[in-house]
Amino acid sequence: MSDLNSLLENAQTAFGQVSSPAELENAKAQFLGKTGKLTELMKGMAALSVDEKKTRGAAINVIKQQVEAALNARRQAMAEGDLQTQLKAEALDVSLPGRSRDIGGLHPISLAWERIELIFSSMGFDVADGPEIEEDWFSFTALNNPPNHPARSMQDTFYVDMQGEDGLALNLRPHTSPMQIRYAQAHVKKYAGHAAMPEIRVIAPGRTYRVDSDATHSPMFHQIEGLWLGENVSFKDLKVTFLNFCKAFFETDDLTLRFRPSYFPFTEPSAEIDIAFNTGPLAGRWLEVAGSGQVHPKVVRNMGLDHETVIGFAFGSGIDRLAMLRYGVNDLRQFFDGNVRFLGQFR
Ligand code: PHE
Repeated sequence: MSDLNSLLENAQTAFGQVSSPAELENAKAQFLGKTGKLTELMKGMAALSVDEKKTRGAAINVIKQQVEAALNARRQAMAEGDLQTQLKAEALDVSLPGRSRDIGGLHPISLAWERIELIFSSMGFDVADGPEIEEDWFSFTALNNPPNHPARSMQDTFYVDMQGEDGLALNLRPHTSPMQIRYAQAHVKKYAGHAAMPEIRVIAPGRTYRVDSDATHSPMFHQIEGLWLGENVSFKDLKVTFLNFCKAFFETDDLTLRFRPSYFPFTEPSAEIDIAFNTGPLAGRWLEVAGSGQVHPKVVRNMGLDHETVIGFAFGSGIDRLAMLRYGVNDLRQFFDGNVRFLGQFR
């Protein structure tokens, strides 16, 4: 029987070696086909006796069934292999991170701006807004800065190729100080005919423009104007107000404020406000954070108020500069580069 066993082994090996269904059909023909090896064995039985035919025939049949079984097994394995390859090719990698929708966040300048509004509101200040394209009178003349006065060159102003009602060129406001005049005038109008007029206490944050560009200056920047006018409003009130603002804004009590004499046409006396942190990375350095002063009597009159009875202070501070100090940013231009990796840190 060893010839039968080796035939079975040969068939199994041959089926195992094929790599396509066509090759398998060829291999099948070698063993089970009309001229195949099993058929030949059957033919070889002709010379045997009846008894020998019985045993030999039964043995050949067993082997034939085993060859057929091996063929079917191989067929099935090949079909399964195909399926696996197909599945692999069409696989969906569910472990890949999905595409998330980024909801974004507020710009650091907006965050600082909101924070400033919140703090001053909590101290009883109104919040006002006004035009960025401004008339000459509001940006300069009403602020005691008449045409041809040398103080006009303190700001390298952008002018617009369009005239205001006064026939003078409009400007991109170089500071938020015009809002002192606009707000006070509206206030006077609002309370005209009333027995008493409430104090003016307002901040006006907004965009401002100057011909200026380096690491700490951008042609478009942000300021916040403050104005407090009443019967008896003094530098003491300015100091307390601004110190409390700084403490809240920078979230520390550990800072000192000083006034440094300065000049602005619209305030007299005028002072720069410097602060110094007593601890932290900026400790011990005086940092200029605002211009300020007692509102000039001429400016009070231009607001439509009586300079004999109304007195107070104004200040102007750079929102961008406050944001730089709060967040430890050393190049102002980074705020306006639109780099998402930079901006994303402030949410
Ligand atoms: N407007 C001034 C500036 O832009 C700042 C300032 C505002 C100074 C109010 C005094 C009072 O530099």
